[in-house]
Amino acid sequence: MNIQWYPGHMTKAKRAMKEDMKLIDLVIELVDARVPLSSRNPDIDDLGAGKARMVLLNKSDLADERQNARWAAWFEDKGIHVVKIDARNKGTLKQVQSVIREACKEKIERDRRRGILNRPIRTMVVGIPNVGKSTFINSFAGKACARTGNKPGVTKGNQWIRLNKTLELLDTPGILWPRFEDQQVGLKLALIGSINDQILNKDELACELIRFLKKRYPKVLPERFGLETEGKEAAFILEEIARVRACLLKGGDLDMSRAAALLLDDFRAGKLGRITLEEPENQKDKVG
Ligand code: G4P
Repeated sequence: MNIQWYPGHMTKAKRAMKEDMKLIDLVIELVDARVPLSSRNPDIDDLGAGKARMVLLNKSDLADERQNARWAAWFEDKGIHVVKIDARNKGTLKQVQSVIREACKEKIERDRRRGILNRPIRTMVVGIPNVGKSTFINSFAGKACARTGNKPGVTKGNQWIRLNKTLELLDTPGILWPRFEDQQVGLKLALIGSINDQILNKDELACELIRFLKKRYPKVLPERFGLETEGKEAAFILEEIARVRACLLKGGDLDMSRAAALLLDDFRAGKLGRITLEEPENQKDKVG
């Protein structure tokens, strides 16, 4: 399956992020908990070199809880602080503030030794499109925040949201580009709905999902659609779904595109249950 997707302005975006990085102490990187590696860009390791680092496993409400815990451990193993969140749910963000302080302990200590007290930590939220950056910034910053950029003399593009005495957030979701040159990454991002569906063959994508579910979550399709999947080809299972859900064309033929869209929508909305598409010890795992 060939996914052609080119998010232009990459060099420009990278340059802009490099500049923004100079201003901050801490990088808050959002990844999608269903595809914690495929939703990352490894360039962030270079871009964020020398900065305190933190990963938010976002959309963890849609991901497999057991895998969330394993991924959190995987990042922690690499010395990166992690919090599992649902950016839409403020309750899940409570821990973020304390983990930020933990991640910046060295900076705070360094400041203290130099006699600098209470200098706010400056941070920036980064991640690939659709990972939930804006949702997180809105939930985390809330209404109470003052956008310091309104002050005269503050240039556009360097606007800070003052969250409290100890934390300032650069008012820009730092957009990272996905590793779209890797077909497996493209496929997984397509499955979670991060890549525009119009450029994809939905039937093929749905079949990839069916193959993956049969292998890793074999009970999901039988439970959701009341059908037996054992020993059956993905295309046949998709036909069964079309039948069960009465996806029919005018003449009475099965409407496979509608069945595919229905299955993908169910998956993306979490109606098939909490599912993670890649596992820490099996990073090169193929979907399908
Ligand atoms: P971005 O700035 O990184 O591009 O992402 P954005 O915040 O716009 O979020 C993309 C979509 O993901 C939004 O849905 C948002 O509601 C959803 N989302 C963000 N965080 C979470 C999360 O933790 N869990 C779940 N389940 N969804 C999350 P949308 O359908 O595009 O918009 P909307 O209709 O929800 O506003």
